Amino acid sequence: MLILIVDDEITQREMLQGFLEKQGFKVLTAAGGNEALRIFESAPVELVLMDHRMEDMNGDEVLERMRGASPLVRAIMITAYGDVSTAVKVMQLGADDFMEKPVDLMDLLAKIRRIEQGLMVERESGKITESLEQIELPISIIGSSKPMQELLSLIYRVAPTEWAALIHGETGTGKELVARLIHLMGPRKNGPFVEVNCAAIPENLFESELFGHEKGAFTGAASQRRGRFELAAGGTLFLDEVGELPLQLQAKLLRALQEKKVSRVGSEKEIEVDARVLTATNKDLQQMVSEGSFREDLFFRLNVLELRVPPLRERRDDIVELTEYFLGKYAVSDIGFGTDAMAQLVKYPFPGNVRELEHLIQRLVTLVRGSRIEVMDLPMRVREGKNTGGLLSERLAEVEKEMLIAALEEHQWVQTKAADSLGISERVLRYKMNKAGIKK
Ligand SMILES: Nc1ncnc2c1ncn2[C@@H]1O[C@H](COP(=O)(O)OP(=O)(O)OP(=O)(O)O)[C@@H](O)[C@H]1O
Ligand SMILES: [Mg+2]
Repeated sequence: MLILIVDDEITQREMLQGFLEKQGFKVLTAAGGNEALRIFESAPVELVLMDHRMEDMNGDEVLERMRGASPLVRAIMITAYGDVSTAVKVMQLGADDFMEKPVDLMDLLAKIRRIEQGLMVERESGKITESLEQIELPISIIGSSKPMQELLSLIYRVAPTEWAALIHGETGTGKELVARLIHLMGPRKNGPFVEVNCAAIPENLFESELFGHEKGAFTGAASQRRGRFELAAGGTLFLDEVGELPLQLQAKLLRALQEKKVSRVGSEKEIEVDARVLTATNKDLQQMVSEGSFREDLFFRLNVLELRVPPLRERRDDIVELTEYFLGKYAVSDIGFGTDAMAQLVKYPFPGNVRELEHLIQRLVTLVRGSRIEVMDLPMRVREGKNTGGLLSERLAEVEKEMLIAALEEHQWVQTKAADSLGISERVLRYKMNKAGIKK
């Protein structure tokens, strides 16, 4: 991407130019509005970083003229601190973003990446479908719908780079799958993929888990241990549920990322780390930043590129294909959905997303008796198209019924065995079967 920096202060220009060139961008500079317009005419500038207050011409006037010549040009306006009214005007004029002085470089980089990401999608969206069909993916990831094609297109572009990517999406949407795909499509594919689930590690063990420890560093540290950062050398470190990271550890993680060095707990020695870091969350980190529960500087470092995995209800086109994929994966014999049952499935909002669909199919193929899954085989919540809601007692009864049938099927309707496997007495089983209307 070719970036034009327009600023009448030489130090500011040079500082921004140095930084952006180090990040691999091509950069041109102009010391004023007239010079900027001259350069703009002769070079294919895609993004302009514009100082708003300049001697010869106001930034917004320059931008307006540029837009006249090339409406697709992107712009970030840089305004004086606290100049909010200008910022609003600037946005109205069609700048894509604005920043206040002094410019926070990580923030600037994040904004540029986002604009770049938008440009790529725009440029590619026409071509995506055809090009994707030709690429062999290293793992199965179903997604012919437009939102998934756009996501895949971003994955292709982020995979070969070293950029940190933040994968954002509701539970069960496929965030981990996306992280694995990025790893497998990148230059580190032969290195390890090391996962850390930040929600699953007790707070007092976290540091040792990430950075390792020396023998005797704390009670219970019986031997030396390498941390996940070290284990991911040459590969990818995937920090799942990164929103769960306590603040104190956020600071340590940030330091490790900035300095590319870690030290084990109980040791002064610094160890070089060479891992690409991918993160995932189902939380709104931006919101957490504004509430003070997530560090802004860490957020910008992790969120160089944001990949949003859309919930299944926003890509209903994928439901049929996913269903067939999971049937193929879990059904021993040839089982299919009746037309009405499939229609019901496509309508259901899937609060648990792809994982919920996968579990549903897994359960259905063991429960269904014929070779066709009909509407009556579907759990009540799917039949009724309900999200969650409803009375607790109804939901519990539904789950209980499913479990009873599954246990009975599994033990060829031998009630003593089914009762045993459920941890209840045969008498209670019979009572519950009666209540739920279960007959062989
Ligand atoms: N597009 C897809 N094609 C095929 N399988 C998928 C797809 N998306 C998700 N899955 C499957 O759905 C399940 C859930 O996916 P995954 O674990 O990646 O979700 P997640 O977003 O990490 O969930 P959580 O937030 O709960 O950790 C996995 O078994 C995964 O293989
Ligand atoms: Mg996950």
